[in-house]
Amino acid sequence: MNPIDRPRRLRRDGIREMVSETVVRPEDLIAPVFVDATTDERVPIESMPGHERVPVEESVARVEEVLETGVESVMVFGIPASKDERGTRAWADDGVVQGATRRIKNETDAYVITDVCLCEYTDHGHCGILEERASEDARLTVRNDETLDLLGKIATSHAEAGADMVAPSGMMDGMVGAIREALDAEGFADVPIMSYAAKYESAFYGPFRDAADGAPAFGDRRHYQMDPANAREAVREVRLDVEQGADVLMVKPALPYLDIVRDIREAFDHPVAAYNVSGEYAMLHAAAEKGWLDLEETAMESLVSIKRAGADLILTYFAEDVAERF
Ligand code: PBG
Repeated sequence: MNPIDRPRRLRRDGIREMVSETVVRPEDLIAPVFVDATTDERVPIESMPGHERVPVEESVARVEEVLETGVESVMVFGIPASKDERGTRAWADDGVVQGATRRIKNETDAYVITDVCLCEYTDHGHCGILEERASEDARLTVRNDETLDLLGKIATSHAEAGADMVAPSGMMDGMVGAIREALDAEGFADVPIMSYAAKYESAFYGPFRDAADGAPAFGDRRHYQMDPANAREAVREVRLDVEQGADVLMVKPALPYLDIVRDIREAFDHPVAAYNVSGEYAMLHAAAEKGWLDLEETAMESLVSIKRAGADLILTYFAEDVAERF
């Protein structure tokens, strides 16, 4: 047997790189940054090695570290000084994200995307206003339409602080339309929305919830985040966001949902983002610490796979490490 078609011919060094189909560039990566109004020093995040919560005063220094690696964009998450039932610190003019964004935009060239959600700001840790009967009842629900007004206010306050793009992550029905309307009414028609359009109710968010102190105090997020079993529903979810004016469509998490990334890539023409979440980062670190996996290689392979599936942009805690290799 003498096969004529031998794919191995193109796998040798020299030609291998030339026929490579997928490239990850630092410009494709968005680095999440945690700013914490409750601390005046940098606090390492135990379950996310290499990441820290930084005080507002350190936010510029933190973003400069990111920029030095070649990554040009950050996603700012905030931990507020105090929390309450409605999450009022989320839209405060002197809030943690607003303060950090102002400084970062004044002093650096970073492209700043802000997380628009209530779970880090509410004392119950849910992503919106709770029903009246809210108590320790795990079956309570977040009031969708009442929450929309607040999301509009948060997005506008971020844009006023200078945010280049806003990224709503709360999975409320109609959130993209409500935010678009609020931004346009305040003169921010040019600020794009990256919607966490297909966000699943995932156990891979565990380390982030420690990092951002945003775990629900009771119950879970099943009544607003998507069921991991559903793929067709993701296309429907994303279509709704497109109709409401979403500019970039995000799938989250990334690695366990690459089929969804591909589905969304094929169904829409918008740029697709994928969020390589905290649990995807933590598991590689944990295995590497045990000597079971090579961290650098598995991190790079993860990002290549996410791009190959169809993502244009990747939010990842590996952004700086991977970019530094270029
Ligand atoms: C909520 C939010 C979450 C993440 C980003 N935004 C957590 C959640 O929905 O519970 C998770 C990100 C990660 O795990 O890296 N605003």
